[in-house]
Amino acid sequence: MQTRSEVPAGAAGTVRDAVRGAVEDAIQAPSVHNTQPWLFGVRGSRISLRADPERRLDVADPQGREMLISCGAALYNLRLSLRARGFEPVVRPLPDPDRPHLLADVYAEPDPEQADADTSRDHAQIARRRSHRGGFRDVPVPDGVLNALRHEAEREGARLVQAVDAHVKGALAALTDAAEHVQRRVPSYAAEIARWAPSPRTARRDGVQQGSYPARTPRTEPNFAARDFARGHGWGVEPAGDHGDALAGIVVLLVTAEDTPGAWLRAGQALERVLLRAAEHDLAAAYHTQALQVPELRAFIRHHFCGDAHPQMLLRIGVPEGGDLTTVRRPVEDVLSEET
Ligand SMILES: Cc1cc2nc3c(=O)[nH]c(=O)nc-3n(C[C@H](O)[C@H](O)[C@H](O)COP(=O)(O)O)c2cc1C
Repeated sequence: MQTRSEVPAGAAGTVRDAVRGAVEDAIQAPSVHNTQPWLFGVRGSRISLRADPERRLDVADPQGREMLISCGAALYNLRLSLRARGFEPVVRPLPDPDRPHLLADVYAEPDPEQADADTSRDHAQIARRRSHRGGFRDVPVPDGVLNALRHEAEREGARLVQAVDAHVKGALAALTDAAEHVQRRVPSYAAEIARWAPSPRTARRDGVQQGSYPARTPRTEPNFAARDFARGHGWGVEPAGDHGDALAGIVVLLVTAEDTPGAWLRAGQALERVLLRAAEHDLAAAYHTQALQVPELRAFIRHHFCGDAHPQMLLRIGVPEGGDLTTVRRPVEDVLSEET
């Protein structure tokens, strides 16, 4: 039986099928707190991607920067999926200055060339990618793979800056910890986390649910604070085995030269492109965006560690410890509408 991610190379069905399949792939993208802040309007071969401002994090993300990064990640999946289905995506980003939530119009043009094996392999990673929350195994990431990840970011107009120096890594961990403390003492922030980390009894298909984080996060050196999704309820997946020697992994900042909606959308596409290439090598990423949500700390990170480029994401990358973490998505019908 053929599943969503097993599109044979060059399988060009009807535009209608391809567009629906591509939107199903787009919504597998990562999004901040699994808010899934996207809407897709389809008219013939045109797919319009919109941000859904109802799903923006008003407290942690008032500018909508992380909302647009999330939508950018979905846009990358949409592009890749159309290619795998035999269509060339022609993208017009932010096509209407009077409609800031309209993030892109994507036209699915028939492609006479068959999708090649590389495209099909990249596409298959959409279903394999998962956010990791915890430590990494003591398995080195080859330099060649790290270079490939850098290259993927650059192809989308962003850059990966690696924290090689132990003190830089330590400082980023300490700033993450500081941000986590600052955020936990703000009631509106805690309420926002509570809204997006529902209880295990929930019927919702969004938010960070208990199957997607460990009940106890193994400490690493340096230690990067995890978000408090369980809020003292003891929720989360019981770790299998002893993870005493977990590593922090490779620490990278994804940066852009500008800090505009267009740059955030590019950062999201770069993020997903990097994550899919990582997944191909059985690597996963853990995200720590707490410090980037506190403006003073983000400015500090920018000036000290990014050569004045704008930090958009802080990631740890490695071979994941444990596994079996799950995630949820809303049905495609909730986000896809036909436009007349
Ligand atoms: C912009 C952005 C910021 C994120 N920040 C964090 C974070 O600080 N901590 C965390 O555990 N996950 C973070 N995530 C990961 C999301 O929680 C995750 O993508 C979502 O729960 C869906 O799960 P999945 O990626 O496994 O499909 C972030 C994702 C994005 C796109």
